[in-house]
Amino acid sequence: MAMPGTLDSANLNGGQKLAVKYFSVAVALFGAQIVFGLLAGLQYLNPDFLYGVLDFSVNRMVHINAMIVWLLFGFIGSSYWLLEDEAGIPVVGLKLGNLIFWVFTLAVAVVVVVYLLVQVGPGDQSSIWLINEGREYIEAPRWADIGIVVCVLVFFFNVAATFAKGRYTGIGGVLTLDLIALFGIYLAGMFYTPNISVDQYWWWWVIHLWVEATWEVLVGCLMAYGLMQTLGVRRKIVETWLYIEVALMFGSGILGLGHHYFWIGTPEYWFTIGGFFSALEPIPLVAMVVHSVFDSGTHNMKNNNHPALAWIIAHAFGNFFGAGVWGFMHTLPQINLYTHGTQWSASHGHFAFFGAYATLVIAFFYLALQKWRGNVWMSGGLAGAWKWKWALGLLNLGMIGMVMAMLVSGYEQSQIERAIEGSSWVGYFVAQAHPWFAQGMWWRQVFGWMFAAGFVLLVWDLLTLGRSERRPAQVHSEPGVH
Ligand code: HEM
Ligand code: HEM
Ligand SMILES: [Fe+2]
Repeated sequence: MAMPGTLDSANLNGGQKLAVKYFSVAVALFGAQIVFGLLAGLQYLNPDFLYGVLDFSVNRMVHINAMIVWLLFGFIGSSYWLLEDEAGIPVVGLKLGNLIFWVFTLAVAVVVVVYLLVQVGPGDQSSIWLINEGREYIEAPRWADIGIVVCVLVFFFNVAATFAKGRYTGIGGVLTLDLIALFGIYLAGMFYTPNISVDQYWWWWVIHLWVEATWEVLVGCLMAYGLMQTLGVRRKIVETWLYIEVALMFGSGILGLGHHYFWIGTPEYWFTIGGFFSALEPIPLVAMVVHSVFDSGTHNMKNNNHPALAWIIAHAFGNFFGAGVWGFMHTLPQINLYTHGTQWSASHGHFAFFGAYATLVIAFFYLALQKWRGNVWMSGGLAGAWKWKWALGLLNLGMIGMVMAMLVSGYEQSQIERAIEGSSWVGYFVAQAHPWFAQGMWWRQVFGWMFAAGFVLLVWDLLTLGRSERRPAQVHSEPGVH
């Protein structure tokens, strides 16, 4: 085996070799997400910018679809990463898994190129099949939808067959069941209905039941594994927490779906159901914070991978604030009447997706990097540590700055457009022209550049961290002391 510090794929098991491929594409798509976000933000400030060349609608669509895909690539990669460790045997059907990785990546590239080449035109059956299905966040054309389902079935086969042949740990069992739900729900966003209310009704099954139920359970599994790896927490402890979190998450998140059914033409009982259950949703997120802080505390923050643990903790807090607190703020129908679809929603959307999901995938990038470099030292006194710390700081401060800027704009819209002007057409424009709105959009852009700088540093760090280290990773203190 090569010296610690050298990047060598011989340091990885089969599943992990595939995982780092998924991670590489995820980083590239994360970069694309940022570029298109910056362009969309600039168009808020100067609506003529690139008009007719690269329209706002297209930039926005690529921005959020790139996000969904890079996070999915991150999750799939993370699952392959832990698969052999958990199951105790090599991945079953890995060759097929590898082939599917290339098919999936190629399909994503084709879809994006088509988005950019065909930006306007009539929507009909052929555009649904070939260009764009028109459902926010999951806009892939139907041919790609079907392709995605096939790719995902192969991924699921790899996971389920490996656990079945090896062993099912608690993490493995929860992960497998969750993947069935996660991908099963995707089907709800694939069929066509001519009625917009019915269409929205099913579309939310994908979006809400992903981010507030099945994705949350998936990151619960990843966090459990991450805490065992970095801190050496005993399996019994993380798995007990995991079961509690899963129960709470499904208990509140499934009917919490109702908070998207307030204004789309569904029956009135959704006000009560949606308001009540979604208000409970922050509870499991508190549990996740307590879990990670408790584990870090009992281990005196002694861990073998400082950047990974830092991002796991950023995840616990980001999930709680971005999803829990920012979601709770506008989840009661009495409040949502004023905030619905304003920059308030965008503020929450950014904070939640970054805080809950981007952070944890980044933590897995660092876990992967450490092992890829021959399980190199990544604790205190790590050479070149300023880069990961600055990347962590710039990305998180950049995001919080954007979130606060959008919150100010959203507040102003709720007050002026909704409360004072009574949601009228004129009110919409009055609110858009108000200095508080405009300044919020400026600050969003400023902090967006800060975020982008953090990303550049992150990539540089991922390419270089640990390169000049020769010490092997810190060994966990004896488990079972608490
Ligand atoms: C990590 C988990 C979460 C993510 C990633 C997330 C993301 C989002 C996004 C992107 C939107 C905007 C959707 C659109 O384009 O219309 C949204 C809307 C919303 N979210 Fe969340 N969310 C999460 C958790 C929560 C939680 C826990 C709550 C409540 C406690 C919540 C409450 C809401 C509400 C009420 C809306 C509707 C806003 C409106 O009416 O415009 N979210 N969420
Ligand atoms: C350079 C950084 C970024 C900039 C300048 C930026 C800018 C934007 C803009 C202008 C929009 C359209 C908002 C609208 O339609 O009113 C948007 C939407 C969105 N962005 Fe970003 N973004 C950035 C990074 C991110 C990141 C890192 C994430 C998550 C990981 C993210 C998640 C989202 C989501 C979920 C939406 C849809 C929000 C909604 O519909 O409510 N963005 N972004
Ligand atoms: Fe929701």
